[in-house]
This record gives sequence, C-alpha cells and structure tokens, in this order.
Amino acid sequence: MKDGVRPQWASGTHSRQAHCALPDQTYEREISKEGFFGPAAFVHHRHPPTGWIEFDGPLRPRAFDLARIAAPADCPWAATDVLFNASTRIRHWQLGANMASLARNGDGDELMFVHAGAGELYCDFGRLAIEAGDYVLLPRGTMWRIDVAKPVTALLIECTNASYTLPDRGLLGPHAQFDPAMLDTPEIDDAFIAQQDEREWRVRVKRYNAVSTVTYPFNPLDAVGWHGDLAPLRLNVRDIRPIMSHRYHLPPSAHTTFVGDRFVVCTFAPRPFETDPDALKVPFFHSNDDYDEVLFYHAGDFFSRDNIHPGMLTFHPSGFTHGPHPKALEKMFVQDKPATDEYAVMIDTRDPLEVGGTVDAVELRDYADSWKG
Ligand SMILES: [Fe+2]
Repeated sequence: MKDGVRPQWASGTHSRQAHCALPDQTYEREISKEGFFGPAAFVHHRHPPTGWIEFDGPLRPRAFDLARIAAPADCPWAATDVLFNASTRIRHWQLGANMASLARNGDGDELMFVHAGAGELYCDFGRLAIEAGDYVLLPRGTMWRIDVAKPVTALLIECTNASYTLPDRGLLGPHAQFDPAMLDTPEIDDAFIAQQDEREWRVRVKRYNAVSTVTYPFNPLDAVGWHGDLAPLRLNVRDIRPIMSHRYHLPPSAHTTFVGDRFVVCTFAPRPFETDPDALKVPFFHSNDDYDEVLFYHAGDFFSRDNIHPGMLTFHPSGFTHGPHPKALEKMFVQDKPATDEYAVMIDTRDPLEVGGTVDAVELRDYADSWKG
C-alpha cells in the first residue's frame, strides 16, 4: 500500500464515491476522524439521521440569537462570553461609542470579526479602518482602541495562550482563497499622529481572564514607526475567493481561513452550487465526533439552515449527527439557485466548549426540534 492510500471496506448497497450518486432514497452520513482529514466511512441510511423526535441532555444542539443581546460595553473584556474552553474564548461585543480606554489581551491573539458597524482602530502599529465583514487579527499584547463611526458589533475569537497562523493551502498553493497580499496592516499616518496626546490614558490588560488597569499620564499609542514580521492584519470576507468543485461537495474544512491551537476558523462565502447531476448540493450529514462546531451567521441567506438570520450563532457539541434542515434537504440533488448567498464564520474546536453564563437568555430553546420536517 502506498503512503496516503488507506484500505477500503464496504458492505451492502452503497455508492463508490463520497457525496456522489447515492443509492436511491438514501441519506448519506459521514463518520470521520480528525474532522474531515482522517479515516472516514459513508453510511447510507433509509431515514435522515436528523429525524429524531426528541433530544434531551447536554449534547443537544443549541442556537443563540446574539442579535437580541443589548449589552454595549466600552471594554472588550466586558463583552458577553458566548463559548469558551482552554484554547479559545468566543465573545459577543457591542461598542456604541469611542472607547475611553485602551485594551490589551495578554491571554492570546484576538481575532475580531466585525459583524456590523465601522470605525477606526488605533493600535501600537498605527491606524486601521474597520468595517463590517472584516477579520482583524490583533497579536497578543497589542494595545488598541476603536473610534466608532457606526456602532460596532463584533465576535471576538481569542486564541488562548497561542498564536493564529494561516492554513497550509497544500496543492492549491499559498495564493489560493485569498492572496496573503490582501492582509492589510495598520499605518502610522497623520490621523494616528494626530490622536497622540499628553492626556491621562488607561490600558485595560486582560491576563488569566482577569483585568488589570495601567494608567499613563500620556497616550501610550505614541509610536512613530515599527518594523517586524508580526503585525495586526485585516482581511474582509468579500476578498475571500472560495474554492469549489462542480462535481464534488467539498467539506467545510476546505474553507479554513485561520488556524488556532486546537481550533480552526473557517469562512463560508458565496459560491456556486455543484452542477453535476450526481453531486450532492448541500452539506452531507456528518458525525462531528472530534470537534465541537460553532457557526455565526453574518449576512445573506443561509442555504442549509431554516429560520436562521444574521447575528445568530449555533453550537453543535461533538458527538451527534447533523446536516441540512428539511427545506435544504429537498434540494439535495436539485438546486434551483446557481450559487449560495451566505457569509458565515465557523469555529471548530478539538476540545469541548462551555456556554457562557448569560447567553442562555437569548437561546432558542426549540432549536433541536428545527430538523423536524
Ligand atoms: Fe458540522
């Protein structure tokens, strides 16, 4: 056996290739290891694997309407904890006015996904304009603040005690999906110099998830220049050029944008549906037995889910099978639209996530029933 080719076994009525030409009246479920990279089996079921009539216990899939949270906070460390584990902390932050103090995350790199609003980010490295759809990657230890042009709502995704990297594009080459040249960095420009003053400024430093305050008699964003191979980076989701195949439904991991330690951040951006008549057009049912899975819906029409709107977040703990909602399932092989029209951020974590203390106030309690036809 050559390296990389695994033994294959089979029994009963089955297709020969994954996600293609399924036996009539069957639903394919992928059982896989290491996300979608490891050994996998494709089981053909008579019923949709999401056809449960009751789902009780801590494994139940959960949905939160974060758009209903009204808890603006000047400091990102006061944002609403949504989900967390030892590797990441996902928060929902609403900033209504200019930040009165600086923030610094001593716990890890911060990936800010701007869901709504616009403003100017001032940091150790200069000024960076931010707007909806931006990922802003702030290296651990960076001091920053935001001046708001339009109130900002953001998802903060911390890479706790580790660093974000870009995914290995493998055979696609390093310029696929987004060219690294699209990663913008802050500029030391006139606006940045103009905000430097001799007033008293406070820096709220988060370390071990506790906040300390350091007060200066001047604005510590007083840099006149910088150089190095570390910097805040900005990438807008509209600059992501997703890969797809017209004959094969790619796994979600094909859309990986940033890699943390024991979790990944993926972006679903508009892309054409598969056109081959035998190719699956919706996500396949899968048992995500190795990863907890989080989806934040940013914009558009979420083709695989019913009753989801922008600002919602779903949490699928690892260990149960999930897949398209009933309306999407009807389009398993026949799509009436040429392309998806969705922007969503997915966070898959190798270790279990805990739900934040207050977010259950905006939970949709009947989400586990949403797969009922
Ligand atoms: Fe999934």
